[in-house]
Amino acid sequence: MTNTAFTPRVFSGIKPSGGLQLGNYLGAIKRFVGMQGEMETIYCVVDMHAITVWQDPAELANATREVAAGYLAAGLDPTKSILFNQSQVAAHAELGWIFNCVARVGWMNRMTQFKDKAGDNAEKHSLGLYAYPALMAADILLYHATHVPVGEDQKQHVELTRDIAKKFNHDYKVDFFPETAPVIDGPATRVMNLRDGTKKMSKSGESDMERINMTDDADKIAKKFKKAKSDAEPLPETVEGLADRPEARNLIDIYAALNDVTPADVVAEYAGAQWGKFKPALADLAVAKLAPISGEMARLMSDPAEIDRILADGSARAREIAQPILHKTYDIVGMLRS
Ligand code: TRP
Repeated sequence: MTNTAFTPRVFSGIKPSGGLQLGNYLGAIKRFVGMQGEMETIYCVVDMHAITVWQDPAELANATREVAAGYLAAGLDPTKSILFNQSQVAAHAELGWIFNCVARVGWMNRMTQFKDKAGDNAEKHSLGLYAYPALMAADILLYHATHVPVGEDQKQHVELTRDIAKKFNHDYKVDFFPETAPVIDGPATRVMNLRDGTKKMSKSGESDMERINMTDDADKIAKKFKKAKSDAEPLPETVEGLADRPEARNLIDIYAALNDVTPADVVAEYAGAQWGKFKPALADLAVAKLAPISGEMARLMSDPAEIDRILADGSARAREIAQPILHKTYDIVGMLRS
């Protein structure tokens, strides 16, 4: 089967749980914004995914606005893209249920992210956390999205989305859902911790010095990069020289991603340089690129009603695409709509 019958359409989502950090920006938001104008783009704040683990209600509402502010501050244009939060479009939950009945327990058991998150303690986790890849498939297929930009960690879930689409099409003898492709590229799809280059940068790490928050101001950004862990060697002459140097690799990847060049370009420019030269250059670059975004986020967050208005408008436009696809799905399945 080919996807030629489907209009190219991008869908992706970010969970509003904890604050946004550099990994969300370089691995997701910056790329999402870059796809604007190339194709139809739909970006979602996936609040229903967030509650698969406990969220304080007031913090959830705030985090939902903050993710929206992050997208907007990074250049998302609400006249070019649809920006909304998932729970305002009920069709996500409705199609999610249908897909719970398409996906097999055996498929879910293979999801490595659940195994990593739940560990030996799976019985204590929510059923939602276990089932969430089927909801993610619904997020994507509700719009017949053909392209899904995600980080490496979500690749398996996009493959599951294809499996669900295929099984649905096969079982109901239709050619209704497209086989969505993950879009994984860019040098810093994995941004690592600034104090330990073998760990992913996360919103929940113990020290704030190990991550760059999208809300950090210029002083914090500069300080964190200047104090970032590096190693004892000068910068290598070639990218091969970054093997087994996780901190060096990470700082160079971040520089490359911020500056829209390749790691090889960065290594060529700084071959043999000392960290005392490179880290301040990285700090300056990061301040130039990121401080305007955090400033704009602060401005947006001071006017929550404006963010809510943008999300309401995006939800209405999302519903217009989603509703006919959900109804057609119901018809295919044999749900009576009287
Ligand atoms: N599961 C994704 C994450 O944890 C977020 C997400 C939910 C998503 N629905 C999606 C991403 C649909 C892409 C498409 O990062």
